Amino acid sequence: MRIENLPLLCNPYVGEPFKIEKGFLVGVMTGKKFPIINGIPLIYDASNHSKKNNRNRWLHDRSAFAYDAVVSWGEKLKINSENTVRENYIRSLKINSGDRVLETAIGTGTNLAYLPQDIDFFGHDLSIQMLKIAQKNGDKQSRTLELFQGDGAFLPFRDETFDHVFQMGGLQFYEDPFKGVSEMARTAKSGTTIHILDEISGAMRMLKKMPAHAKYADQPQRTVDAMPRLVPHSMRSIESGSIENSNFYFLRFEKP
Ligand SMILES: C[S@@+](CC[C@H](N)C(=O)[O-])C[C@H]1O[C@@H](n2cnc3c(N)ncnc32)[C@H](O)[C@@H]1O
Repeated sequence: MRIENLPLLCNPYVGEPFKIEKGFLVGVMTGKKFPIINGIPLIYDASNHSKKNNRNRWLHDRSAFAYDAVVSWGEKLKINSENTVRENYIRSLKINSGDRVLETAIGTGTNLAYLPQDIDFFGHDLSIQMLKIAQKNGDKQSRTLELFQGDGAFLPFRDETFDHVFQMGGLQFYEDPFKGVSEMARTAKSGTTIHILDEISGAMRMLKKMPAHAKYADQPQRTVDAMPRLVPHSMRSIESGSIENSNFYFLRFEKP
């Protein structure tokens, strides 16, 4: 983590700024300490999360070592066509040189290959093991990454920090997808379009967990229609749909 980025951060559980002390981010009001391991702040307080969320983190840590191989073999065996979907998705974000960009649920940083080099890039994910691989993948591509571990429903960034906020394939795993989406909106600057892309099958599982929306979950088309309900009321230009010839849906909206 670069010291000049400290003013962009906050303790997501109480909103206080941080100072740095001997390898820890320390909340200036509460004194709450979050360790920085291999340059990655771990801003996750397990006592603030359910057992289910802690298990989700454990599962992603355990499977991280295989993630890149599974994605690349899926592509080689033509089980999926993620590369094209990723390339088109990242191009549609219209990221410019020098923009400050946040990718939530960044995983191992698979999208790095499609992003411009000269951006101020931040990645966030629940799994430290995924992030360690993202760090190595970033090094291989000579990129400077700012990586943070935590729950996407508690982003450790101040309001209105980023020119772009996006994610791919993470929301289906969130315990609280509503809060995950509203945190993406909170940390984006005014006028920013927030982009989400995820698997339709994952969205159906996610909706089944949310009783008010469960009736949509057995109908893929209706499922995609239900996605705008995740977006906070104050947002505008909300659009969702499925991506042609793929198993993905998109959700995007603008922060006024
Ligand atoms: C299928 S992977 C997608 C990774 C990456 N976005 C990609 O396109 O390859 C899902 C990612 O979501 C992360 N994740 C799951 N639940 C999360 C949460 N509550 N907050 C943040 N990240 C989460 C996992 O650790 C994992 O890295």
